[in-house]
Amino acid sequence: MSHAEEDEGTRRDFLYFATASAGAVATGAAVWPLINQMNPSADVQALSSIRVDIGEITEGTQLTVKWRGKPVFIRRRTTDEIEAARADDGADLPDPDARNANLPSGSPGDDNNRSLPPFGGGDNTGEWLVMMGVCTHLGCVPLGDGAGEFGGWFCPCHGSHYDTSGRIRKGPAPENLPVPVARFDDETTIVLG
Ligand code: FES
Repeated sequence: MSHAEEDEGTRRDFLYFATASAGAVATGAAVWPLINQMNPSADVQALSSIRVDIGEITEGTQLTVKWRGKPVFIRRRTTDEIEAARADDGADLPDPDARNANLPSGSPGDDNNRSLPPFGGGDNTGEWLVMMGVCTHLGCVPLGDGAGEFGGWFCPCHGSHYDTSGRIRKGPAPENLPVPVARFDDETTIVLG
């Protein structure tokens, strides 16, 4: 077996492991001992990109995975959440920027620019919202599931309210929750990084 094939095998093994462990934050810590046993190049590769199985996420629920040491919220939004977010596209948003690493900087923060396009392209229904679960004020992890005055997320540390698109609407946080580099790899797999 060539070096390249060995590397590929190692990487594939890890990705499988990452997918299996991404189901809950509680199991995330188990990833690190495995990485420490790997060679440096595979280590870097594994840290920079993970695959997340989203097949079990039901509408109106959220999966939190740990990526690059930080929580990432993956939410399958309800129709009401999507409608509420899109209805407020024209609102006086404290941060008008999409804060989406998949788009050019300065892209407007409308909900279409915040949510993840579906596998294979096509109309973005807004079903999936993927963003860092780190308050842009001082870094707390906001509460979800409709928390706060705008039905999205609420950071109790100093009272920042985010809407159902993860946009800051009220409180001291200066920016929307950032959308990381993310894409669908197939119908039920999202790749972060
Ligand atoms: S850290 Fe979230 S409001 Fe201060």
